[in-house]
Amino acid sequence: MLTCHVTLDPAFRIGTVNPRLFGSFVEHMGRCVYGGIFEPGHEEADIDGLRLDVLKLSRELGVTVIRYPGGNFVSGYRWEDGVGPVEQRPRRLDLAWRSVETNEFGFNEFMTWARRAEVEPMMAVNLGTRGIQEACDLLEYANHPGGTYWSDLRVSHGVAEPYGIKLWCLGNEMDGPWQVGHKSADAYGALAAETAKAMRQVDPSVQLVVCGSSNDRMPTFGSWEATILDHTFDHVDYISLHAYFEKAGDDRASFLASGVAMDRFIEGVVATADHVAAKKRSRRKLMLSFDEWNIWYESRFAGYTNLEWAQAPRLIEDEYTTEDAVVVGSLMMSLLRHADRVGVACLAQLVNIIAPIRAEPDRPAWRQTTFYPFALTARHARGEVLRVEPITPAYDTAQHGDVPVADVVATHDAESGQVTIFAVNRSETETVLLDAALRALPGLRIVEHLVLGGVPGELLEGNSADAPERVAPRGGTGAAIDGSHLLTAPLPPASWTMLRLAQPIA
Ligand code: AHR
Repeated sequence: MLTCHVTLDPAFRIGTVNPRLFGSFVEHMGRCVYGGIFEPGHEEADIDGLRLDVLKLSRELGVTVIRYPGGNFVSGYRWEDGVGPVEQRPRRLDLAWRSVETNEFGFNEFMTWARRAEVEPMMAVNLGTRGIQEACDLLEYANHPGGTYWSDLRVSHGVAEPYGIKLWCLGNEMDGPWQVGHKSADAYGALAAETAKAMRQVDPSVQLVVCGSSNDRMPTFGSWEATILDHTFDHVDYISLHAYFEKAGDDRASFLASGVAMDRFIEGVVATADHVAAKKRSRRKLMLSFDEWNIWYESRFAGYTNLEWAQAPRLIEDEYTTEDAVVVGSLMMSLLRHADRVGVACLAQLVNIIAPIRAEPDRPAWRQTTFYPFALTARHARGEVLRVEPITPAYDTAQHGDVPVADVVATHDAESGQVTIFAVNRSETETVLLDAALRALPGLRIVEHLVLGGVPGELLEGNSADAPERVAPRGGTGAAIDGSHLLTAPLPPASWTMLRLAQPIA
């Protein structure tokens, strides 16, 4: 049997689990807003048209931050269209997704939803077709107490108190030729720096995210980060990363190792940020905002140029399988492992669009398979991420070269005495025996052991409107802690496992 050895010791820590790692994303795209979080007339909708079933599942998912309103959408968006009396709002073309935007749902509706969902908003400003002035206008509308044009307009729209929004993205994927208003690294870097400075003059408390590469396969990856950080390093708090993974053909071996690619991407951006810091004689460790990540079967998407103009069309409503959920669990492990440098992360997106939650007009919303690893990690990764250094054999993959057959991440919450172990077994055929030395954490007992995957015939199964609960985590078997404080647990092939352990209460 294959083995994976780790040592858990609270003296060896990577960083504190930041709740902002459990963010998600709501874009005006397809049926994420219209027919997703907002659907007046649906039997689950409240008086404001917000779907209560979706709200309930968002809270159950444990999502903490929501990025809004895009995405590619934001690069052509006029935020003023979405505030004030609904009947006066214009219908516009959304060039990003060849959609008709009715503007029935806008900034204040989103903030109402965010409050009910108990999430922190993360706003994006349009640096595609617009610039410094419009970004400052929106910030003034959102955060200035009153007595000025934009803040008084907000008050006249029924919102007396400023929102005090902290997180702001300076545009979206500005390196991508598909982006409306796409710019060179120098042009974007200069604009982002000046926008950041002006926004801080409106509200010095904002935390700003500059756009890194759209993915690490972009030809400009690395040089894009270096150039834009030359311009913005002293003016921003985060640099963004976006990554979508999918199984290529039937190459499950590479797909299950997607977390390795995510680790490498993060470490590449950290290296570039630290290179710029060194050049600037700065000791600052710039934080990362992984504000779009997920599995997206992009190869099945016809591309936006092939879309017909439509209102809230069905776009990229990928249906996820058990094996997708195993990979999502492993991607969350990658985020946790980099808790010292990744300060924000957003699963893209929340509802319908490549989402953990699905909604239809005639049904209650349901959980996709990927809902479970996200919800369990968001709920149980607490305290400090421990440096566990797994020792395990490697296997060969077509996409990533040699990768460890198993991966393990653990968190320790000193206050509650809870230890949570997340593990993935990437072998398609063999069980891996996890053994974890716990000498530094005496008296631990197992309180919960859950597994996703591990049954070859079920790896391609998913949930649907007709079978909303076909896939869910099941209880794991065979885990034990012996007298010498060694935890052993079999990790079934192609599976994700969560083990919760508790210390005795003193
Ligand atoms: O999440 C879907 C799209 O993916 C977003 O609009 C864009 O930012 C990314 O390319």
